[in-house]
Amino acid sequence: MSKSLFQPIQLGALTLKNRIAMAPMTRSRTSQPGDVPNEMMATYYRQRASSGLIVTEGAPISAVGRGYSMTPGIYTEEHIEGWKRVTQAVHEEEGKIFIQLWHVGRRSHSCISGEQPLAPSAIKVPDQVFGPRPEGGFGMIETEMPREMTIQEIESTIADFVQAAKNSIEAGFDGVEIHAAHGYLFDTFMRLESNQRQDQYGGSKENRLRFLVETLQAVVNEIGGDKVAVRVSPHVIEGFADEDPEIIDVMLKALERMKPMNLAYVHFSERISRYVDVPETFRHQVREVYTNPIMVAGKMTKQSAQQLLDKQHADFVAFGTPFVTNPDLAFRLAHDLPLAEFDADARLTLYGGGAEGYIDYPAYQA
Ligand code: PHB
Repeated sequence: MSKSLFQPIQLGALTLKNRIAMAPMTRSRTSQPGDVPNEMMATYYRQRASSGLIVTEGAPISAVGRGYSMTPGIYTEEHIEGWKRVTQAVHEEEGKIFIQLWHVGRRSHSCISGEQPLAPSAIKVPDQVFGPRPEGGFGMIETEMPREMTIQEIESTIADFVQAAKNSIEAGFDGVEIHAAHGYLFDTFMRLESNQRQDQYGGSKENRLRFLVETLQAVVNEIGGDKVAVRVSPHVIEGFADEDPEIIDVMLKALERMKPMNLAYVHFSERISRYVDVPETFRHQVREVYTNPIMVAGKMTKQSAQQLLDKQHADFVAFGTPFVTNPDLAFRLAHDLPLAEFDADARLTLYGGGAEGYIDYPAYQA
């Protein structure tokens, strides 16, 4: 039966009050040094807690997994303490919050991560990330040639994800979303263009999805499947030169492997950056192999979001940039109130800076 966007949804033991999630968005407003979540971030997330679920901005699980300066980590005691303020604020407003666990793989530079970026293979494409500029200040800089990960590094990265998940639970999060989309570490293992390994993590489709599946299983074993989610983007070409002819097949196989894990949800990121449109056939294939909750994000309107639910292509949806300028987005959509546009000014204050363009967007005023 079709559900309304404004009806609750059950994810394992967790009840979301509506089917509108806030999508993960980098905002780069941590306290320095140490990339620590702060009171201003707690205010930002508190303001947006009327959504059914908040997924935080990507949180690097290790120094080498960092690809953007000033994003909040989840690998030091200070990070855990900082995030506690955020989870407490959201819970005080009766919201739910997952943290996005992030390893950017090759989409970085040693001036951001402290060491040469890691990847399945030593292959780079033209790509730029947010970091310190040689001439001073911050801006977009070209990524660096990555180093091929050893098996030992793959194993220690899985251990880093497990530790980050434990840290997240300690910090009070309702769950974790593992970032396997947008050309970051796991996405590069899944695609032919970036993965030319000869070992058990490269070659066949089964081998290319192994790293993600092993990581998910390890995190599920540690904190329980209903506290674990994953974000994927098989139709997005961000971070790659070209479309991958096999990624759809790899993704469907990965979903088969995820099914027995009883994850909280699988999150499909669509229509971001460079992408191809998602055919309906894919949505049907997904539902055939995967029967647990699905969230979809990507330039949604109230109408297109409701249509995804009506067609049972998704169980709930996420909005990104509308949440930047409309902290009370769920309320505005419910009552068909006008939205504050995500305009050029809003774009200018997306990354870094202070309260302006961050916590000063008001709730709807008649
Ligand atoms: C961004 O900061 O623009 C960004 C970060 C992570 C993503 C996508 C976009 O997965």
